[in-house]
Amino acid sequence: MPQRLTAGLLAVLLAAAFPAVAPATETNDAETLNRARAAAKDLGERLKGELVAAIKSGGPVTALQVCNTVVGDLAIQTSKQHGLTVGRTALRVRNPKNAPDAYERKVLEEFLEKASSGADLAKLEHIEVVSENGEKTFRYMKAIPMAAEPCLACHGTELKPEVKAEISRLYPEDQATGFKPNELRGAFTISRKLD
Ligand code: HEC
Repeated sequence: MPQRLTAGLLAVLLAAAFPAVAPATETNDAETLNRARAAAKDLGERLKGELVAAIKSGGPVTALQVCNTVVGDLAIQTSKQHGLTVGRTALRVRNPKNAPDAYERKVLEEFLEKASSGADLAKLEHIEVVSENGEKTFRYMKAIPMAAEPCLACHGTELKPEVKAEISRLYPEDQATGFKPNELRGAFTISRKLD
């Protein structure tokens, strides 16, 4: 082996030793990104666990009541655990508290556009460091695709009358019905202030 490596060979060796950790992103803070991904996954699994258990024990009307009361707590708990802020948003929301800010709306619209040109919604995410008033914030969003089970019972086109009635009672401004499987339902949205 020659003592000196050619630049080309060195580049190849470096690329092999340090594979690109982060995708095209303005942050190379892989730790924050991993945390954000883990938080989205945890919140998703916890919500689904609660939903499925509540549907099983009391049907969709009970599950709506459970969802109405536990979602906030689960989001707070998951945020604390991962040291960031995690929640859910969508272009058409059930709970007005989940309405997107301007940044989230823009990313959700990009997700829609990508989905319409064939991207797999299950894999869509957006990572960015946003600077506002001299403060840097890490922002992460991950698309939530609509699934048949159990989502259609509460977000689909044909809801049972008692489900419809309970949704109107709990969420008089609901906009989150009429979705079909594989459409964009919303996104997990995560932020973390950076120093
Ligand atoms: C038992 C009824 C029920 C089922 C089933 C259900 N949801 Fe929801 N969903 C709700 C309720 C209630 C809210 C509002 C929660 C809140 O107050 O933040 C909600 C809110 C959401 C939101 C946050 C944005 C918004 O509209 O406020 C997303 C995203 C979402 N649901 C996706 C899903 C997906 C994906 C599934 C299937 C895996 C699903 N939901 C299944 C009742 C349901």
